[in-house]
Amino acid sequence: MKDPIHGKFYKAVIGNPEQEDIKKNGKYPVCLQCHAPAAAKDGKTNLTAMPVYNEGVNCVACHTISRFKGTKKTTGGLRLGTQAYEFSSTSLQGPGTNHTTPDWQHPIFQNTANPDIFKSNAVCMGCHDQRKNSNKVALCQTGDEIATSDGDTNCLSCHMPTINGKADHSLLGGHSAKMVSKGLLMTMATVKQGKTLNVTIKLSNQLPHNFPTGAPFRNVYIKLTGYDKQGQIVWVSSQSHPVQDDKKAMFMYSLGDAKGNPAPPPKATQVLGDTRLKPHETRELNYTLAKGKITKLKAVAYYDLLLPAMKKKFPKPEHKDLVTSQIIAVSENMIDY
Ligand code: HEC
Ligand code: HEC
Ligand code: HEC
Ligand code: HEC
Repeated sequence: MKDPIHGKFYKAVIGNPEQEDIKKNGKYPVCLQCHAPAAAKDGKTNLTAMPVYNEGVNCVACHTISRFKGTKKTTGGLRLGTQAYEFSSTSLQGPGTNHTTPDWQHPIFQNTANPDIFKSNAVCMGCHDQRKNSNKVALCQTGDEIATSDGDTNCLSCHMPTINGKADHSLLGGHSAKMVSKGLLMTMATVKQGKTLNVTIKLSNQLPHNFPTGAPFRNVYIKLTGYDKQGQIVWVSSQSHPVQDDKKAMFMYSLGDAKGNPAPPPKATQVLGDTRLKPHETRELNYTLAKGKITKLKAVAYYDLLLPAMKKKFPKPEHKDLVTSQIIAVSENMIDY
């Protein structure tokens, strides 16, 4: 609940996280299987009842995973979060690499080297493979995205790199602009043709999953600006926001209701569109504009955790870091006379 975006959605979709026996459609709230694994294992919904419930995905949630059952049931349907795993109640599981060093020795628990889980995607997939809402509309699908690209790309190589001999546990993703910027390569080429400029912006997804991946409201957009000799803005690709007036420069997942109007993830009944970059895709954006007084063109790529319409639910200044678009790539061209 410390994550304000998750907190708001959870309260809206499920209810009070401080109350016991909360049900959704008569069932235990599925969210907790991934977001609060310790509470899910105990079948509890009051997340303040024990500190470990509130910790979300804590050390023990991962380091007791002993086997991955897979997310797809043979009878159809999905096993989500803790349901996709078997857990050990007597022994901490780990990669086995630092098995003999003091930082992996525990005075109470036995340690088990389990590289099949801890050196592979299995340790992530129970929670990150895919999830649908109650109308069977896909929300998160990082696992499926990977499956359609490299097959056996290892999540850990990027999300848990070994630094000074230790696995970096920061688990950076959308909340780190620095991490996001590693996923995109942007270049720009300009060709003068008489009085016009033909601009091509090339965007390459460096990743084996979508760019951006994950939560369905993550999005990326590009703005192109023309400056004159004095540095004044004389041309823009978008007056307001690309979602309004330059849709080709908008990389997003659009969910809708039966009538085709935009709908939030819990209520969506259909996918209206998906313009995110597919694994390793390169896409070109073309602009043709009058050269006029333009001496410099600048393309900027921005990343947002939330879609523009959702930002209103997270008023500044409290949520400044969640609603401010982050610059993830910049490309500039000088236009000579
Ligand atoms: C999201 C799952 C996850 C969580 C949460 C997690 N770990 Fe890990 N941990 C791993 C994986 C996977 C590895 C193996 C990485 C590798 O060897 O490439 C690992 C490796 C380790 C190692 C072995 C030494 C090393 O650096 O290789 C230690 C010790 C460790 N974790 C401690 C912790 C502690 C303490 C916490 C809580 C603060 C924690 N882990 C939380 C998944 C997790
Ligand atoms: C028990 C379920 C679970 C497991 C196992 C798990 N995760 Fe997660 N992970 C989550 C949840 C839930 C969140 C979202 C937390 C939030 O933002 O409220 C998350 C968040 C993340 C994020 C950050 C996304 C952001 O918003 O910035 C990354 C990156 C990530 N996980 C990678 C991994 C990797 C890599 C592994 C395997 C080593 C892994 N996770 C294992 C449940 C899990
Ligand atoms: C080549 C490096 C690389 C590999 C391999 C990789 N990722 Fe990522 N991942 C990134 C980068 C960079 C981002 C930030 C851009 C984005 O969101 O696509 C990211 C973002 C994410 C996020 C954040 C989504 C959000 O909502 O903020 C999650 C979750 C995630 N990856 C999970 C995985 C999982 C699970 C695997 C393995 C199946 C994996 N990644 C493999 C580099 C990688
Ligand atoms: C299969 C595991 C799983 C289930 C079930 C699940 N989530 Fe998540 N959720 C994740 C993961 C993993 C992330 C973060 C990484 C990503 O974006 O893929 C996430 C991210 C989120 C976010 C975005 C958080 C942010 O920082 O932007 C919200 C909101 C959210 N989940 C709400 C819910 C709600 C509400 C439910 C129950 C109706 C639910 N989730 C069920 C795995 C799950």
